[in-house]
Amino acid sequence: MQDVETQKQYVEKVKQLNENKNRKYTILTMGCQLNENDSEKLCGMIEEMGYTRAENQKDADLVVFNTCCVRENAEDKLFGKLGELKKIKESKGTIIAIGGCMMQEKHITEKLKQSYPYVDIIFGTHTLYRFPEDLYKAIEEKKKIEDVLDIDGKIYEGLPIKRDSNVKANVTIMNGCNNFCSYCIVPYVRGRERSRQPREIIEEIMHLAENGYKEVTLLGQNVNSYLRVEKEKNIPYEQFEGINSFATLLKAVNNINGIERIRFVSPHPKDFTDDVIDAIASSDKVCKLIHLPLQSGNTKVLKEMNRKYTKEQYLHLVEKMKSKIPNLKLSTDIIVGFPGETEEEFEDTLDVVKKVNFEQVFMFIYSKRVGTPGYKMTNQVPEEIKHERFNRLKELVESQIEENNKKYVGTTQKVLVEGESKTNSKMLSGRTDSNKVVVFEADKNLIGKLIDVKIESEHKWYLKGVI
Ligand code: SAH
Ligand code: SF4
Ligand code: F3S
Repeated sequence: MQDVETQKQYVEKVKQLNENKNRKYTILTMGCQLNENDSEKLCGMIEEMGYTRAENQKDADLVVFNTCCVRENAEDKLFGKLGELKKIKESKGTIIAIGGCMMQEKHITEKLKQSYPYVDIIFGTHTLYRFPEDLYKAIEEKKKIEDVLDIDGKIYEGLPIKRDSNVKANVTIMNGCNNFCSYCIVPYVRGRERSRQPREIIEEIMHLAENGYKEVTLLGQNVNSYLRVEKEKNIPYEQFEGINSFATLLKAVNNINGIERIRFVSPHPKDFTDDVIDAIASSDKVCKLIHLPLQSGNTKVLKEMNRKYTKEQYLHLVEKMKSKIPNLKLSTDIIVGFPGETEEEFEDTLDVVKKVNFEQVFMFIYSKRVGTPGYKMTNQVPEEIKHERFNRLKELVESQIEENNKKYVGTTQKVLVEGESKTNSKMLSGRTDSNKVVVFEADKNLIGKLIDVKIESEHKWYLKGVI
């Protein structure tokens, strides 16, 4: 690809500038797993340009922020961090680069240019691959760079990547989102849905398997509509190993030797077709913890959210999945306090949570996002009511998780060993098929292996066991 080749030349140019200078960088990733995967690509490019990772921001010659804007608190966090950087910039001349979803928002980049003129590079989600060129121009030509595109970028293949783990890997299978849920900013900052070519995905995962990776997570904002836009609009894609949908992709990944676990986020309930359910049931490596974002348990709120399913349809889907997939566990995302949500409507959400008994629930307080339909809704729920509902939901979820955790005690679980425990370096840590963290004492040569661990106790956020 010509564009990527051009960037490789810029990689070489920056590398020459950095020769024998022991340049260091830090990166702060503020968003979802897609954002993390983008950061891994940024790190790949940055390290090829001769930078090594610094422990501390004050030692860095290059500081990168990869931003998220899905909820409001991200903004406060970014501007706080930038304030801290001003002194470091003045004393050391550190290059400051900010990229990611928030940079696709005009009012944010305007604010940055006005109030934080010491930022060197602003880049968006569609121009990530051009980072070497932007960085070169910022260093060599001492220019302020603003490299943000409003149009959907292409999918760029062949970028270097520096992954966070040697055991499990994120693999983006599609970019963008076409769903326009009325609260959500993602379609505006990530553009329309575009799927990667089947061959590119399979080759990436085969390469991971050859390098000892055991687990892959397939990523996209709406993974179960993989290749759908291409088929609907007759956009050509290359047939490869019979892959023409998400279900066939899952089956093909299941056939890759060496990969032992497959996860994916996020699917949309409206696209959870029978072929996907059957593929999960018949693919032994696909973990039987499925993320199924609920958002609200009330049909009227779901309609206002533009989710395209009702409370009953969601519950029916759950029943169907449970009947076809043995030992199925579910996790979900829920928003409380969407504009107009009444007490009774909120209670429908509690009702669904009670009925489904999720293994894990990611809970969010509704946050107004500029440019979304939700922003203009006049019936916003008062802050204190949102918080009160959030706390009630949290209480219910935590009591369910405690009950569910107890069921693990005494069982033997297959655990993929990921590395040393973050809180106690004498222990190793790994995850069950259902994504529970398990810590246990064992020799480090077990890292990267799938082993049996007997669970002895539960501790809310993790389980403790022996091999
Ligand atoms: N594409 C994914 C979600 C991406 S954003 C999906 O559809 O599941 C992750 C989660 O953030 C969403 O599932 C939603 O629960 C939450 N979220 C998105 N916009 C939000 C907003 N404006 N306020 C609060 N939570 C929000
Ligand atoms: Fe946002 Fe909805 Fe798209 Fe998920 S599916 S990214 S919640 S618009
Ligand atoms: Fe945030 Fe962008 Fe992900 S807005 S949630 S980093 S797609």
